[in-house]
Amino acid sequence: MSKRIGPEVRVVYGRLWQYVTPHKLVGFIAVVGMTATAVVEASLAYLLQPLMDDTLVAKQVESGRWIPLAFMVIFMLRGLSGFATEASLGWIGRSVISDLRRQVFNKFLTLPVKFFDGQAAGPLLSRLTYNVEMVAESVTSVVTIGVRDILTVVAAIGVMLYQSPSLTVFVAILIPIVGALVWLLGIAFRRYSNRIQDTVGEVTQVTDEIIRGNSVVKAFGGYEYERDRLAAVDERNRKQNLKLIRVRSMGVAVTQMVFGFGIALVIFMAGKQSIEGVLSPGQFISFFSAMTLMLQPVRRITNVNATLQRGVAGADSLFMIIDEKDESDTGTHEIERVRGRVRFDNVGFSYGDEDSPVVENITVSIGAGKTLAIVGHSGSGKSTLVSLLPRFYEFDSGDILIDDVSIRDFTLASLRNNISLVSQDVILFNDTIRNNLAYGQLRSYSEEELMKAAEAAHVLDFTNELPRGLETMVGDRGVLLSGGQRQRIAIGRALLKNAPVLILDEATSSLDTQSERRIQDALNVLMKDRTTLVIAHRLSTVEKADQIVVLDAGKIVESGTHAELVAQEGHYAALYRMQFSDA
Ligand SMILES: Nc1ncnc2c1ncn2[C@@H]1O[C@H](COP(=O)(O)OP(=O)(O)O)[C@@H](O)[C@H]1O
Ligand SMILES: [Mg+2]
Repeated sequence: MSKRIGPEVRVVYGRLWQYVTPHKLVGFIAVVGMTATAVVEASLAYLLQPLMDDTLVAKQVESGRWIPLAFMVIFMLRGLSGFATEASLGWIGRSVISDLRRQVFNKFLTLPVKFFDGQAAGPLLSRLTYNVEMVAESVTSVVTIGVRDILTVVAAIGVMLYQSPSLTVFVAILIPIVGALVWLLGIAFRRYSNRIQDTVGEVTQVTDEIIRGNSVVKAFGGYEYERDRLAAVDERNRKQNLKLIRVRSMGVAVTQMVFGFGIALVIFMAGKQSIEGVLSPGQFISFFSAMTLMLQPVRRITNVNATLQRGVAGADSLFMIIDEKDESDTGTHEIERVRGRVRFDNVGFSYGDEDSPVVENITVSIGAGKTLAIVGHSGSGKSTLVSLLPRFYEFDSGDILIDDVSIRDFTLASLRNNISLVSQDVILFNDTIRNNLAYGQLRSYSEEELMKAAEAAHVLDFTNELPRGLETMVGDRGVLLSGGQRQRIAIGRALLKNAPVLILDEATSSLDTQSERRIQDALNVLMKDRTTLVIAHRLSTVEKADQIVVLDAGKIVESGTHAELVAQEGHYAALYRMQFSDA
């Protein structure tokens, strides 16, 4: 009755199976447990026959003793096998979830920046939470159906055949008719439940927006608008749900009527056979309970395709991520500490469309320990250019060399070890100030080094006034700190890392003049004896650079020292004048 299982399902399940196979022993226990459950359930149905015929009708003393005992043993076995099944399947399910979750998480760590540029975070996050659960649930369901349910049906049919072959044949004709009906109702039900998910999504969307944007709602008096918006989607959701409830309860009602009809027929046949003396009361009761035992498993077996598909959809979305290509890391050059000579050699790069490069023909070199300033209008490609150095993006043409070695020949780890980065939007983690300073591999630094960096970056200036000092939690993305405080932590982090090459991308742009001046001190300490690429929106920071390049639409249009460029009366001079008229 279920649709044929396509090759895709087989491929995906084949792959999922590899997550189950390491747990052979637990799997074996699960199979034993499920088999025992099926046998135990069927023997309960079987035992009703001697109970009825021997004990209750014929009043045999002997059977009045052993049958209750047998029931007791069977219920104990049922408890045991149920426990073994649930616990072992649960164990396997949770292992599959953990494996998949960690694998996807690790993948997120090593995927290129480009992968994340094109994606909303929400759906990626829900892969880790919702999809892995759905996959595991589907796998355990399919296993349960494949073993326990099928065995239960087989055992139940065995009991039925044993008690009355002719009634069994009769039921065998009846079941497909009932099954087809249940299946048809199932289709209608799924169609509605899909639509309901959509309206739940809308409710979440609207609510999420007013929670995140609650200050905008307040400031612009958006109460009524938002209330109406929610009322509309909520009303749609309510109607959909009512429809679902109607369809579902009607489905149950119709199914029961069909069942009732079938059962009446079975009872009629049974009565006839009893009158003819070929069916005892015990046989009938036993037959009947075996038949009821079979109903739930049969229903699940006919729905196995839906269960499979749910797993396939979930697993597909996970495997898609797992199969994504990692950052390319084919270089072998490893060096503890580069001297820091950086050279861009005719570099070109575009984010996607090769025809419209974001930066092109970039040629510039910076001596070890020197400072290169990059200026230009917003959108001219400054951030893009510096992001090529730690290989956040792969340049398309030309080459970038550190100490005359192409950065592609470095291992990614070695390359990035040699580069510190302080950018405009400081990323802090929901942890203490101390752990944010000593983030990542930096944790191995000594207390003394940490305090020195914190002091030089003026982090201690504000942590000394906090009751918990460096142990203060910074909150989600650092929301509990001000922009300037976050910036100082980022600078402290870079100081502590003490890499020979430093990138400052508008490291002070979100600050007022006073905090900028204080941070500038910290930056000066940081830039000392390091090769620095600095992008600054205030040209006063740029004046002291050894060399300045002016970018316009991704190309270098001017380069030289501050004095030379001012004298040239070109782009730089214009930018410089604009700055001072601003201030
Ligand atoms: N991740 C990205 N994906 C696609 N295009 C981008 C991305 N980041 C920046 N751009 C585009 O590249 C150009 C240069 O941006 P950017 O390097 O950030 O400029 P700047 O730092 O000089 O303000 C802009 O036109 C911007 O729209
Ligand atoms: Mg920028």
